[in-house]
Amino acid sequence: MKCVIIMGSPREKGNTASFLEPFMNELSACGVESTFFRLYDKNILPCVACRECQRDWSKFGCHRDDDVQEIFDTILASDMIVLATPIYSWYCTPPMKALLDRLVYGMNKYYGDEKGPSLWAGKKLALITTGGYRPEKSSDLFEIGIERYCKHSQLAYFGMLSARDLGYNHVFMNSEKECQARDFARKLYKIL
Ligand SMILES: Cc1cc2nc3c(=O)[nH]c(=O)nc-3n(C[C@H](O)[C@H](O)[C@H](O)COP(=O)(O)O)c2cc1C
Repeated sequence: MKCVIIMGSPREKGNTASFLEPFMNELSACGVESTFFRLYDKNILPCVACRECQRDWSKFGCHRDDDVQEIFDTILASDMIVLATPIYSWYCTPPMKALLDRLVYGMNKYYGDEKGPSLWAGKKLALITTGGYRPEKSSDLFEIGIERYCKHSQLAYFGMLSARDLGYNHVFMNSEKECQARDFARKLYKIL
């Protein structure tokens, strides 16, 4: 069982990273092998709609020279994708959005002269978010977008774990959030 965890926070030791820590520890305790990408350490260029990736249905085929090929290969070798992001303006952060665009074309060969396959069909996807507002007012639109993204890409959407940040003067992590993160990892492990 393999999981790829893709983290979209610019803050290396911020809220999203600290929420992920118990989640990743629990996954590891369950025996799940995980690969972790911090997108702000990577070069993720935006899609320019050249459609080069639609020519060959057997590979990513994107001609942009950056770090997305490595992430693409890791996703293909994984059973589960976890997207972890702070909410910025009701959605994920820019490098995660750029990655989602690159993958929706590179993985889904739907956009050439003929409709081809989804290369990642059947994989599972889960969300972990942190936001300043209550989850139903901060992460709701991102979740709707990702549910639709999954349906379109033939991915199985697992669900979302969200936590609220009460502001810069409050300590974000507490034992309740730690339990929620561990519990989410165990639930995810059960379906892997
Ligand atoms: C530019 C910016 C935009 C934000 N937009 C939202 C938002 O739309 N909704 C929300 O709930 N929180 C918003 N926040 C708050 C962050 O999502 C929240 O503080 C989060 O826990 C930060 O996570 P991090 O420490 O991993 O970066 C925003 C923060 C920043 C810096």
